[in-house]
Amino acid sequence: MRIGLLTGGGDCPGLNAAIRAIVKQGLGEYGHQIIGFRNGWKGVVDGDIQPLERQHIRNVLSMGGTLLSTARFHPREEDGSMDAVLQTLEAEKIEALICIGGDGTLHAASKVADAGVKIVAIPKTIDNDVAGTDLSIGFHTAVNIATEAIDRIHTTAESHNRVMVVEVMGRHAGWIAVNSGIAGGAEIVLAPEEPFDMDRVVKFLQHRHKAHANFSIVVVAEGAHARQGSSMEYEVQLGKYGEIVAGAIGERVAAEIQARTGFDTRLTVLGHVQRGGTPTPTDRILGSRFGVAAVDAITAGETNVMTALQGEDIVLVPLPEIAGRVKQVPDDLLRVARVLA
Ligand code: F6P
Repeated sequence: MRIGLLTGGGDCPGLNAAIRAIVKQGLGEYGHQIIGFRNGWKGVVDGDIQPLERQHIRNVLSMGGTLLSTARFHPREEDGSMDAVLQTLEAEKIEALICIGGDGTLHAASKVADAGVKIVAIPKTIDNDVAGTDLSIGFHTAVNIATEAIDRIHTTAESHNRVMVVEVMGRHAGWIAVNSGIAGGAEIVLAPEEPFDMDRVVKFLQHRHKAHANFSIVVVAEGAHARQGSSMEYEVQLGKYGEIVAGAIGERVAAEIQARTGFDTRLTVLGHVQRGGTPTPTDRILGSRFGVAAVDAITAGETNVMTALQGEDIVLVPLPEIAGRVKQVPDDLLRVARVLA
């Protein structure tokens, strides 16, 4: 079979492990051809192909990023790019397409599947907010990076008697904030799942600093927002493409804390550091398992599905069921972050 492959949306560590597994399983086990498209859906529109052979996947397991490159681009019917996708797939005789991506890429994949293309999706996003899977590629590494950063910030916070606000990624869900906050021993974690009340944040910090400490760590997810009607009016700041403006909520939270408590406060925005560098073993293994499962599924004729981790098992979930849904942090995990503060 001729199988197409793309990585779309934001990059993350572990993508190359998945690509490598797809090439090894596809070529070695079944004798398929794997045709990579550069720059995600944009490469399909442009017919920008990269047939993948064994030499392309040498020494890539520990490399961050994606050897196929990626782009924030989604085909749409309105501008003819959906037609262009279908034309390229036909011209290149692609019999099935593996799409590795987060919510936007998978939503587009579902639409392309509706147009009759055989699709198998693989979830990746450091935000870990794809529904139907316990883990997405990249999340584990991002939590490691954020935790290490919080550990480092801890010592400087303590030395200077400061409040340190750490902004992490997470547009619609606070998985990185909650997990790195718990692991790094943050005093306060602000996540999109629970709109916060700045009065309570301030009271908590004042109490803590009076009672037993003179420094604090506050972890804020970029998509966190203040509760409506509470003492801090805040509208989520969106950029040109509807993306969250990095640093906006962190800056505001740090400024409010400084102004209301008088405590010396600093902000660190971790930003794309969380998406770069070498993947953890967990992400390498997850990417490898998803890659093998995707090729197996296509070969067995199971398409319009997404590979998913559920418990210990890799399973296939129907793509239409997960496209457009956001997996948020469950209450019990949010509670642990609260209890330990
Ligand atoms: O990939 C998801 C994500 O990491 C979000 O948390 C963040 O808002 C976004 O990517 C940033 O994207 P970009 O690299 O396009 O600025």
